[in-house]
Amino acid sequence: MAELLEEQRETWGTRGGFVLAAVGSAVGLGNLWGFPYKLYDSGGGAFLVPYIIGMVCIGIPLLILEFSLGHFTQRAAPNAFGRCNKRLEFVGWWGILLGFVIIMYYPVILAYCFSFLYFSAQSIINGTALPWAGSGIEGVENAKTFFNETYLHKIDGPGFGNMQWHILTPLIISWVLMYFCIFKGVKLVGKIVWLTVPLPFLMLIVLAIRGLTLEGAMDGLVYYLDPDWSQLAKPTTWRLAFGQVFFSLSLAYGVMLTYASFLHRKSDLNNNAAIICFADLGTSFVGGIAIFATLGGMAFVTQQSGNGVGVADVVDGGPGLAFIAFPYALAQLPGAAWWSLIFFFTLVTLGIDSAFSITESVLAGLVDKTGWKRSIVLPAMTVVGLAFGLVFVTQSGLNWLYTIDGFINGTWGIAFLGLLECVALSWFYRIETLRSHANERSDWKLGVWWNYAIRLVIPIVLGTLFIWSLIDDVTKEGGFLKTPDGEWIVFNCVGLCVMAMVPIVSIALSLVKSPVYTGDGHGVQKTITYHTSYTNRVLSIVAFLMAMISAAVLIVIISVHGTNIANMKVWMCYALVIGVAAVLLANYQMAKLDKSNIAPTVFNRFAGVIGTLDISACIALTLVTLTGTAAKAPRETAAKGLTSTSYIILAVACLLIAGGLSWCFWRAMTASSDEDKSIQYPSS
Ligand code: PFF
Repeated sequence: MAELLEEQRETWGTRGGFVLAAVGSAVGLGNLWGFPYKLYDSGGGAFLVPYIIGMVCIGIPLLILEFSLGHFTQRAAPNAFGRCNKRLEFVGWWGILLGFVIIMYYPVILAYCFSFLYFSAQSIINGTALPWAGSGIEGVENAKTFFNETYLHKIDGPGFGNMQWHILTPLIISWVLMYFCIFKGVKLVGKIVWLTVPLPFLMLIVLAIRGLTLEGAMDGLVYYLDPDWSQLAKPTTWRLAFGQVFFSLSLAYGVMLTYASFLHRKSDLNNNAAIICFADLGTSFVGGIAIFATLGGMAFVTQQSGNGVGVADVVDGGPGLAFIAFPYALAQLPGAAWWSLIFFFTLVTLGIDSAFSITESVLAGLVDKTGWKRSIVLPAMTVVGLAFGLVFVTQSGLNWLYTIDGFINGTWGIAFLGLLECVALSWFYRIETLRSHANERSDWKLGVWWNYAIRLVIPIVLGTLFIWSLIDDVTKEGGFLKTPDGEWIVFNCVGLCVMAMVPIVSIALSLVKSPVYTGDGHGVQKTITYHTSYTNRVLSIVAFLMAMISAAVLIVIISVHGTNIANMKVWMCYALVIGVAAVLLANYQMAKLDKSNIAPTVFNRFAGVIGTLDISACIALTLVTLTGTAAKAPRETAAKGLTSTSYIILAVACLLIAGGLSWCFWRAMTASSDEDKSIQYPSS
């Protein structure tokens, strides 16, 4: 039966269709409202350093990992992990469930975009001003009042308030659109994305050119590119940047893995991953230029009218940027309603392919596991997703959206899952198999460094961020769940419960027997017989003991001294050295597995994982001591024109994105001249 499914699996029509669909999933609302405000909050041009490092050094290797696993197993996330090792199936479900939480609220943001699109069209047709129009500081207040009160009827506090029926209609439109985009399978998706990916990109370029030709644009760009290097010393900046990398590349939610599972057997994986990363990075960068140049233009116009509003007065996080600051800025310009129409249409087209990619990944996960028909699962999912989405259509919906999004894309959610994914595949599976699989068919080859990146470097980096964030949350005044006055923070309590449920449900789902899949490495592992030598066993136990000793030292330090480790430097060094030794020994044994079929014991595998966490904990504690747990300070930037440093940052970013993309296309062209890989047809 499993073989039968293999043959029947649908494939993308062309390489372009796949690449565009993956870019469509990556490039979404996050690029236009997530990236610019996080950058603004975290040091402007300086933020680009961790962001670009994260994109290139973590994003590309992880994307290759997901592509390789999905393509190798030809299954969506749960079964893909399950085929490597039955006990790992829960990791796939974990991503799918986090994705399912996202599809409850992501279409709600799309619904806001539809509503604002409608308001803009209405004001064009009736020849009236935009409903949030107004000038000066009162204009900003107008825009805020329009979004928060007139549109959302927002209330603060932990309840829900009344249902906002006028948001339900656009929400239903979003779901219906998503349904029709994917109901026929990936072939149709591969065609739709030829429209939904280039179109918003072209409109973004139009918006960027429009912004750059406004007087005052350069002053806006100062807020974008002027670096505040001191922010790089704060782990918050790195945490935000890496979180954005995961969200933006749709990493760890199982989306990219699922998309790759539909690829034709001969398809390139490595080069596609790099193209997608650079395209996503480029879109964020151009989006940032469009946003900040326009805000600069707005500041200039309002100052001319004597009722000045600076960029800093309007920049706001999340939906605030897309639905308050930017609409306000556009309302100051000639032809405001048209620009507003273009902007919201851009957002709709940006968001729709991201939204349906998550739906597709959840759908494929369920279909692969149960063997149920798409035509039954998809309508059921649409109804369930819409029903859960109703929480976000209430008066308090935006507060819930912020909370849940913060949990999923913050400390407790996706970065941890990314860490788990790396650890699972590199310590509990033979990562070399995935590297060879990717290399056999790709335009360029991965060196063995990739194995070490996935097994050691990326888990240590993500582990450090996770532990540091945990310390930050737990040591907040009053704690994470209570205010300093001792009152419960209901949003955080609910968010934490949701996050705690996800692994439990994932494990439960992985235990459900599948009628169509044989599990435990079917067709993937069975051909290799592993054996373990005596030396192997001894070394594994030694590594495990060292990892545990290091962990014990750290636990004692933390329980006695909390995070104040200034006097415990020597013990910290011991813990670090023992942890590093444990990881190196464990890695040495795993590297043997890469070359032969001598498998390390389970002790060795756990030694690697625990040792990695020990190292991460040491680095995180040191960072806490060096930088404190203080959050960001308000950014002070006086508009004074771009400095030479800003120009250098601009040039480096442009060169890197353009150079990276050109290199990838050149490799694709030269590789496809040997063998025509540029257009791949399904085998059936
Ligand atoms: N990458 C999308 C964005 O930047 O808006 C959001 C997203 C899509 C997140 C798909 C997760 C996902 F699985």
